[in-house]
Amino acid sequence: MPPQITIRPSGHVFHAQDGETVLEAALREGYMLPYGCRNGACGSCKGRVIAGTVDHGNSRETALPLAERAQGMALFCQAQPRSDLVIECREIGAVKDIPVKTLPCRVQSLERLAPDVMRIRLRLPASERLQFLAGQYIDILLKDGTRRSLSLANPPHDDGLLELHLRNYGGPFSTQVFTQMKEKDILRFEGPLGTFYLHEDSDKPVILVAGGTGFAPIKAIIEHAIHHRIRRPLTLYRGARRPADLYLNELAEAWQREHGITYISVLSDAVAEDRWTGRRGLVHEAVIADLPDLSGYEVYACGAPAMIEAARRDFCARCGLPESAFYADAFTPAVASSG
Ligand code: FES
Repeated sequence: MPPQITIRPSGHVFHAQDGETVLEAALREGYMLPYGCRNGACGSCKGRVIAGTVDHGNSRETALPLAERAQGMALFCQAQPRSDLVIECREIGAVKDIPVKTLPCRVQSLERLAPDVMRIRLRLPASERLQFLAGQYIDILLKDGTRRSLSLANPPHDDGLLELHLRNYGGPFSTQVFTQMKEKDILRFEGPLGTFYLHEDSDKPVILVAGGTGFAPIKAIIEHAIHHRIRRPLTLYRGARRPADLYLNELAEAWQREHGITYISVLSDAVAEDRWTGRRGLVHEAVIADLPDLSGYEVYACGAPAMIEAARRDFCARCGLPESAFYADAFTPAVASSG
């Protein structure tokens, strides 16, 4: 039998697979324990082993002094269970429990996903990991003191590299990325930020509405849901202007094929030469046409402010969606942006 681990005080129970640390097993099973570097150096993941024994792996003495180890403390990013365990540690239940960090990072790769959309992958220093909730964003700190908010497109379990999707609107950061930025460039960012994330304390079916590069945090949420086998029905409505704007379309089609996630793309500006045979119009209108009664749903929407506002207004006024079941991340400079 794989070792069973019980968390106090929550009473949550999970099992560790061969070779897994306590932290890896907890995250795989959907329990958010705090962490920082994930390599035994920072102490963010420290907790107490109340019962059972662990192998401390590469726990560094600076993060876990021998005296603390003798008192039963452990770094859960290193500790591997050698028996069933009862551990005591804090669990992250909300955004406010996650520390916001300012970190340097290196551009690992730049990849055009569409003529005006760049995928930027960032590598953190070896001693750092970023803990976040799927759907949150980071602020890139620019040399002139301004910030550029970009949603994280990778889910938290896949945190080796941070993934951003940037649309070129012609602003200073977009111009820099599309014309000068190269691999190995150094950036600084602050994060994670924002309160846009999947609320897992509900079992309502979920409608995800993504406009343009609002696809980025929606991708993180869907990949998180797939990884944690969240059973709630998920339907993705994706709005774009023309077919070329539906970047990573094959990925969304694979979610539908392999994981039963309904995927509906809606184009607002398709022209004859696009030979588009799918849905047309405004993406939120497509939701209303399909689901005139949204009273039993939760909606997560990310995109331009006009799309978010129209969706909020019409879903609540015309379709009975409770205001409290509408979660949104709009591309506004002061809040969050994937654009
Ligand atoms: S996360 Fe840094 S020591 Fe475990």
